[in-house]
Amino acid sequence: MLKFEDRSVELRSGETVLEALERAGIDAPSSCRSGTCQTCLHRAVEGVPPPESQVGLTQGQKALGFFLPCVCLPTSPLTITRPDDVGARRDAVIRAIEPLAPDVIRLRVDADDFAYRPGQFLELVADGDLRRHYSLASHPEDDPFLEMHIRLHENGRMSRRLGEFKPGDRLHVAGPSGTCFYEGVHEDQRLLLIGAGTGLAPLYGVLRDALKRGHLGPIRLYHGARSREGLYLDEELKALSRTWTHVDYRPCLLDPNAPAGGDVAATALHAEQDVKDSAIFLCGGENLVKRLKRDFFMRGVSMKNIRSDAFTPSG
Ligand code: FES
Repeated sequence: MLKFEDRSVELRSGETVLEALERAGIDAPSSCRSGTCQTCLHRAVEGVPPPESQVGLTQGQKALGFFLPCVCLPTSPLTITRPDDVGARRDAVIRAIEPLAPDVIRLRVDADDFAYRPGQFLELVADGDLRRHYSLASHPEDDPFLEMHIRLHENGRMSRRLGEFKPGDRLHVAGPSGTCFYEGVHEDQRLLLIGAGTGLAPLYGVLRDALKRGHLGPIRLYHGARSREGLYLDEELKALSRTWTHVDYRPCLLDPNAPAGGDVAATALHAEQDVKDSAIFLCGGENLVKRLKRDFFMRGVSMKNIRSDAFTPSG
């Protein structure tokens, strides 16, 4: 049996999930129909897709139930969704809003039954139609709230709205989404975390999760900012690296006079020459993430060892 949205489809013998969806008149994208192009990617939210339908996906995608319907012959019932379906909205209550830097706030909300992996992102919904994605810095086993670090934009609608909110106010959350989390990493592997601005939020979540899971390999975290105030978790991260001797925190202030731009990407690329065996996490603006991904790939890092969360500008 296959369930998709509000439809149930009985699978015929030898029929793939893609064929069953098409027979039922459900619009499902496809191209190669042989498990290569990933055009047909879907996600199982109940049931376990067979391993042969997850070949070529990242460890993070596999852990979240993503699979390829064109080569999926299920052996047990599956409930599936489109890959970008963030699920139902949940009620959430603001627990705290506080400044982290002149243009960054920490938002903590309570939301019942919101399961996630640190480093994923959620959709925050205010006033019914105001929606933005924010990464999660909290840890579900340690924190009784969802924590986001949000850059405020002078003319941004969400920024203005958040400025009016106070603890106790209500909004909605949906998700989680994203595969930038600690999964498929060997405990002795070197971790390299690089982010700028509020790109620190998912990296902070990943770092805490790695430590909680007993990661033993060296961990190096670069956080870039334009000003000293922008290094908004500086004290916490310094304290953390004093407690955990295998954690090396490297704050990077933008130096426009330095060669190659003097940003966190330039600093990390200069310092990190031998990265072939590292698991790399990249978070921040699109250009930063794209540049680091390309350069580390050129240095021999397999794409399966690079997880990233590229922020698109939003207000
Ligand atoms: Fe290409 Fe399924 S259609 S992987």
